[in-house]
Amino acid sequence: MSSKPFLLRPLCDSDVLEYAEMLYTSFNAWYWKHGWGKDYFGCRPEETAIFYDIYNDLTPGHSIAAFDNNTGRMMGACFYHPREYHVSLGIMSVHPDYWRRGVGKAMVDHILSFTQENNYKACRLVGSAINMNSFSLYNRSGFIPRVIHNDMVINVSGDNPYTHAPGEDRVRDAAIKDVSGMGDLEMEVSGIRRERDYRYAIVRPGESALLSESPKAACVRKNPREVLHASVYENDQKGIDGFMISVKHSALNMMGPCVARTEEIAIALIRRELERFRGTWVLFVVPVEKRKMVEQLYKWGAVNVETHLKQVWGEFQPFKGVNMPSFLPETG
Ligand SMILES: CC(C)(COP(=O)(O)OP(=O)(O)OC[C@H]1O[C@@H](n2cnc3c(N)ncnc32)[C@H](O)[C@@H]1OP(=O)(O)O)[C@@H](O)C(=O)NCCC(=O)NCCS
Repeated sequence: MSSKPFLLRPLCDSDVLEYAEMLYTSFNAWYWKHGWGKDYFGCRPEETAIFYDIYNDLTPGHSIAAFDNNTGRMMGACFYHPREYHVSLGIMSVHPDYWRRGVGKAMVDHILSFTQENNYKACRLVGSAINMNSFSLYNRSGFIPRVIHNDMVINVSGDNPYTHAPGEDRVRDAAIKDVSGMGDLEMEVSGIRRERDYRYAIVRPGESALLSESPKAACVRKNPREVLHASVYENDQKGIDGFMISVKHSALNMMGPCVARTEEIAIALIRRELERFRGTWVLFVVPVEKRKMVEQLYKWGAVNVETHLKQVWGEFQPFKGVNMPSFLPETG
C-alpha cells in the first residue's frame, strides 16, 4: 500500500483539460488570496494548456503530477526540463484544496531525485520572492537564491514611436543556422545550453528540421510553437552576441529567455521585440543589477509588478553577461 495519500505519475494527453483547470485555479487563487487584486491568468482556464503543449512537445513525459488516491482528482503538477548540463523546474502548481499537505514537496523531491540519478550537477528555477509558500518549498529543499529580478510590465501602445536603441539594426529573426552560436553564447554567459529550446522557437510550421522526439505530442493542439519568436543580435564577424525568445499567448506575454554579452545588446533585442507586442502588454524579468536595462524599461513606461529569484540547487557560476529568464520556455 502507498505510504502517501496520493499517486505520483507523469501527465498524459488525457489529463490536459484537468491540468489546465488546476493550473489556472492554483495561480489565480494564490494571487487573489495574497492581494494581487486580479486574476494572475487573465485568459480562459483551458488556455493555460499552452504550458503542457509546449513543455510536453519539447521533452515528452517530463512532468510529475499528484492524484488523490481516493477520488482520482489531480492535486498538483510540475514540469521539469533536462537539458545538456542542467535540469530546470517549472511551472509548479498545487490546487488550493490541497495546499500544505506535502504535494509540492513530493514533486520537488521527485525532480531532485531525477537530477541526481541522471548525474546533473544543478537544478534551476525562477521563483517568486513574494510567495512565501513557494519560497519555503524550494528553500527547504536546498535551492539557494542567486539572482534578484525586477518583474516589469509595459503596456505597449499601438502608436507610441518609442525611442530606438543603438544596435537595433543588428537584430534579425533567428534562423536554424544560428542554433549552435546561440548555444555557445549561453554556455559562455550562463554555463548552460539548450539547443532544442532555441530550435523549437525558430522552426516555423511546415519546415522539416522539427524536433524528432515528439511527433505525437506535436499533434495535441495546433502548432503551439507559433506563439514563440526568436531573434538574434549579429556582430561584425557574423557571430551571435545576443538572442531573445518571446512568447505571445493569451495566458502569457513575456520576453525571454534573453542572453546577451552586454546590457546595450539586450536593450537592442528588447526594443526590436517590443514591436511584436504593439497594442497589448508584455512582462520582463530583468536582473536588478542590470541597471541600464531597468532604467531603459522605465523610460519605455514599465511598471514593477513582482520580484523573482533565480534559485539553484547544486552548482552555479555567476553570469558573465545578461540572462533574462522566462516562464515559457522555463529558463535554467
Ligand atoms: C507553492 C505551492 C506549490 C506549494 O505547494 P504545497 O503542496 O502547498 O507545499 P507543501 O505542502 O509541499 O509544502 C512545502 C514545504 O514548504 C513549507 N512551507 C510552506 N509554506 C511555508 C511558510 N509560509 N513558511 C515556512 N514553511 C512553509 C511546508 O511546511 C513544507 O515543508 P516541510 O515538508 O519541510 O514541512 C502552492 O502554494 C501553490 O500551488 N501555489 C500557487 C502556485 C505557485 O505559487 N507556484 C509557484 C510559483 S513560483
